[in-house]
Amino acid sequence: MGLQNKYLVTILATILAIISLSTAYAADEPENIIKFRQTVMKGNGAHITNIAAVVKGQVTITANLVADAQAIADGLETFGKLFPPGTEGGKTNALAKIWDDRAGFDKALADAQAAAQSMIGATASNDIATIGKALGALGKSCGGCHKPYRKKM
Ligand code: HEC
Repeated sequence: MGLQNKYLVTILATILAIISLSTAYAADEPENIIKFRQTVMKGNGAHITNIAAVVKGQVTITANLVADAQAIADGLETFGKLFPPGTEGGKTNALAKIWDDRAGFDKALADAQAAAQSMIGATASNDIATIGKALGALGKSCGGCHKPYRKKM
């Protein structure tokens, strides 16, 4: 390809990138935030599933445990910020109770965050029994929010 053609291709690619950015969905549309928070939660589900696989002895590789625990803690940290007004409706399993009883929701979130911190400590111990105990408490804390604040899935 000649030098000039190369420049042309680069310029065209840049123009296309700018167009696709400007036609993207408006930022922070409720439906995008809903998808975003569901993906954060899917992440939590994935990380706890991997911790459980190690606790159950299905997998003996422990190298990712700390990262899994940390990711859950980080995900929960973000999660409280993902319920702005306007995201009550649409394709969500969040119950209206979250907006009606925000204090209760925040309490359930804080409990789960504390359990996630304990899990970080437990994974650092590398002791499966300790991690198993922390897993039970963490799982319970997930349910402590899902039961009152999420539709039955
Ligand atoms: C403070 C409340 C709260 C806590 C704590 C919580 N969740 Fe959730 N979770 C929700 C809500 C609300 C939804 C539904 C979100 C939506 O549909 O908009 C949800 C959805 C989910 C989903 C389904 C995501 C999807 O749409 O595919 C999974 C999986 C999940 N949570 C896992 C977990 C795990 C694992 C934990 C514990 C480590 C946890 N959650 C802790 C409130 C919570």
